[in-house]
Amino acid sequence: MNRALETERLSLRPFTPEDAEAWFAIWGDPEVIWWGADATFAKSADTLRRLVAAEADWPEGVGWLAVCRKGEDEILGDVLLQAAPFAPGIEIGWHFRREVWGQGYATEAARAVLERALAEGVADRVYAIVALENPRSLRVVEKLGMKAEKDLEYSGLPHRLFAIEPSAG
Ligand SMILES: CC(C)(COP(=O)(O)OP(=O)(O)OC[C@H]1O[C@@H](n2cnc3c(N)ncnc32)[C@H](O)[C@@H]1OP(=O)(O)O)[C@@H](O)C(=O)NCCC(=O)NCCS
Repeated sequence: MNRALETERLSLRPFTPEDAEAWFAIWGDPEVIWWGADATFAKSADTLRRLVAAEADWPEGVGWLAVCRKGEDEILGDVLLQAAPFAPGIEIGWHFRREVWGQGYATEAARAVLERALAEGVADRVYAIVALENPRSLRVVEKLGMKAEKDLEYSGLPHRLFAIEPSAG
């Protein structure tokens, strides 16, 4: 997701290879990547370099954004749009440093990403898939106005699939 974005409190920008250490500090925290996804994913500068390079081939508007407070370089988390593995379309995801949870950052960042994606027609609908045992993330999708579609098993855990489309107005 190649272009920067600003919200009231946050600036969202593409990742650079220099972000590798800070990003792994987030992804290396078992309370953030609690469902046991591959925590080595963000572990090396090499992974991040490959990710950043791969984005060049992704459709405009799809990919990862690093989230910082405006005027600061320190990464608070990430928001991503990627091809959904469970439904035809795009899914949104978010991961934030534990120390900054509960301040509305995930919702604020994700709302900006969603609004731009829907306004620009990057996707007709955007999905989110959230584990039923992840109340924080369930609250984020609720605040974003995403609608529950169905419950399903995903990565061995009960999940709820949510979707949102551009508003008619
Ligand atoms: C999910 C996550 C991104 C949320 O980040 P965040 O910045 O804290 O999100 P927000 O502050 O925008 O919203 C969190 C909401 O959950 C609520 N919340 C916090 N703890 C809660 C709990 N135990 N039960 C229910 N709601 C809870 C907060 O009060 C807040 O809602 P509010 O604004 O109505 O008060 C963050 O917790 C995270 O990175 N988790 C680990 C990674 C993850 O699970 N990613 C999602 C995979 S689907």
